[in-house]
Amino acid sequence: MIISSTLDFRDAARRRLPPFLFHYADGGAYAEETLRRNVADLSDIALRQRVLRNMEDITLSTSLFGAAMPLPVVLGPIGIGGMFRRRGEIQAARAAHRAGLPFTLSTVSICSLTEVTKAAPGPNWFQLYVIRDRSFMRDLLATAREQGAKALVFTVDMPVPGARYRDAHSGMSGPYAPARRVMQAVTHPRWAWDVGLNGRPHRLGNLEPVLGKASGLNDYIGWLGSNFDPSIAWQDLDWIRSEWDGPLIIKGILDPEDAREAAAIGADGIVVSNHGGRQLDGVLSSARALPAIADAVRDRLTVLADSGVRSGLDVVRMLALGAQGVLLGRAWLYAMAAGGEAGVTQLLTLIEKEMRVAMTLTGARSIGEIDRSILA
Ligand code: GLV
Repeated sequence: MIISSTLDFRDAARRRLPPFLFHYADGGAYAEETLRRNVADLSDIALRQRVLRNMEDITLSTSLFGAAMPLPVVLGPIGIGGMFRRRGEIQAARAAHRAGLPFTLSTVSICSLTEVTKAAPGPNWFQLYVIRDRSFMRDLLATAREQGAKALVFTVDMPVPGARYRDAHSGMSGPYAPARRVMQAVTHPRWAWDVGLNGRPHRLGNLEPVLGKASGLNDYIGWLGSNFDPSIAWQDLDWIRSEWDGPLIIKGILDPEDAREAAAIGADGIVVSNHGGRQLDGVLSSARALPAIADAVRDRLTVLADSGVRSGLDVVRMLALGAQGVLLGRAWLYAMAAGGEAGVTQLLTLIEKEMRVAMTLTGARSIGEIDRSILA
């Protein structure tokens, strides 16, 4: 299939993946209103077209948490990435590092942090969930330190999992789910060969020490539900702050008050995010929440954003709304499902090109010049 835009990867992924995986990635919570708004509100952001300003020399480089980067883009954390392509997290990390960008490994990834660091020893960030068993969290933090993770992304918007109706219909969960997944694998032979047969083990690599062999896909959703800790509160973050002296990024902030709390506990960054519309349906899109949050805390910590970003043009829009960097989620997952490491490399090349065009035609010569002045 011809890939001419970042959006083409979604179609390619849909063809290749068994439906239970495609819909797990593609879907959101409840009626998916927030998921839809994330994309729609961002694409509604109009830019001022500026011309004849000699835009020959523009630079996209920036730095986040003291590290220089060629683009203000990070691959964000995604659960069970290794089910979408053989040892998928490693393929995505390699593509990110080749482009000079960080890759964030999810707590609930297929490949463990140790496996990823060995196979893709670039700037890896590690995402941590609030888990009931604090000693297990402490072990994960120790592993992140040992494996040289460059930043800790602490996700706080999943004290309970949101209801994802598509999962029950697609065979990700619900009645006869394992049998339905086997049937879907049979009708998607490219995936079945690459991941189903040759991409094993299909365990949640980071959770194996506590779950052992039970850390497979069947246990995934159940584990999320029973091990996330709804009692988490801001005081608990003092503990994380004291266990982790590298950059600490709180992901899942959608309100300026919470952003101020994050600054007060000494976080180095936040990600303005509604988890890609996968948690509470009906909350604001990231694009709408971002400007007030950036105004509240941007002089105290680094503001990143995700949810709804599908192209390089969207990256520029998020920066104009106040973000200093952007996390990609579904965009890289679709590219990886469709084309593995090469797919993610191609995606990042497209993102860079689209950002360059958007900057040229809005008159922004550097990332620092992308601000509200380019909004129409
Ligand atoms: C996990 O983080 C998910 O959104 O499914």
